[in-house]
Amino acid sequence: MDPRPFRSVLYIPGSKERALEKAQNLAADAIIFDLEDAVAPEEKANARTLLARTLAEADYGRRAKLVRINALSTEWGADDVAAMAAARPEAILLPKVDNPDDIAALANKLDSRSETAKTRIWAMMETPRGILNAAAIAAAPRMAGFVLGTNDLAKDLGCRVGPGRVVLQTALQTCLLAARAAGIVAVDGVYNAFKDEDGLRAECEEGRDLGFDGKTLIHPAQIAIANSVFAPTADEIDLANRQIAAFDAATAEGQGVAVLDGKIVENLHVASARRLLARAQAIETLEGAV
Ligand code: COA
Ligand code: MG
Repeated sequence: MDPRPFRSVLYIPGSKERALEKAQNLAADAIIFDLEDAVAPEEKANARTLLARTLAEADYGRRAKLVRINALSTEWGADDVAAMAAARPEAILLPKVDNPDDIAALANKLDSRSETAKTRIWAMMETPRGILNAAAIAAAPRMAGFVLGTNDLAKDLGCRVGPGRVVLQTALQTCLLAARAAGIVAVDGVYNAFKDEDGLRAECEEGRDLGFDGKTLIHPAQIAIANSVFAPTADEIDLANRQIAAFDAATAEGQGVAVLDGKIVENLHVASARRLLARAQAIETLEGAV
């Protein structure tokens, strides 16, 4: 799995010059430059040109850069892929993925040019078919991440989403299972009410507790909350260090398990502790570099 953090993944409409410029100085871990639904049909061609130029010239530091293209079944998809080849985003985010054939079709196009021979693919998980095929999609060659498209999914399901997103839990957890089984990143869907900080925090906490790596965002004001909720806390870091120390001490005495704060510490806890510390380190590295 990608060792970099994906706590905050900000969508930027590829047509909005001001937002594209501003994002160079925003603290998002990753950016999705969007050519799909945030761009109106009559703006598609201009957005594609503007984005290709911006990606070639602007400096987004060490943040992960993804471009969401239009589906290959649309009139824009093939041109989007061709235009992005020179800009070399590390990944193309493919919308409305239904099955692994959609991934293979994009992979074929990327293979046909040397500039994109190594470009990874991320998939929007946002259709009922896509959710049902999540395991096969996650395991497809070149796949590196899932982004949940909860608005599109709710539309297709005809469900009413309330606090706690009970009606989406099956889909969210199916995607998490598939992503973890394949060892790829999984990022939660957006929170639409971008001025409601308490609501955003609650939904970030829910996503974190489910196991997502981070949340997709629509507005810069959402970045700080996602960064804080999806980062390990000081208490978690302290506990991880103490678990490792306790386990090492027990091992040195020939014991297979340790006890810390009245709780058992086994190999698996040590593995989780090491992963948490690696995540904290990756966040520190990114924040020091951008
Ligand atoms: N990325 C980067 N910068 C953004 C941004 C984004 N997603 N959204 C807003 N900004 C910038 C604006 O350019 C503005 O910058 P400035 O004050 O320096 O000129 C500043 O943040 C404040 O913007 P604000 O006036 O509060 O927002 P708005 O009312 O103009 O726009 C949205 C609100 C929701 C329409 C807008 O944030 C947006 O388009 N978000 C992305 C939507 C999207 O990509 N959807 C697809 C996936 S769901
Ligand atoms: Mg969508």
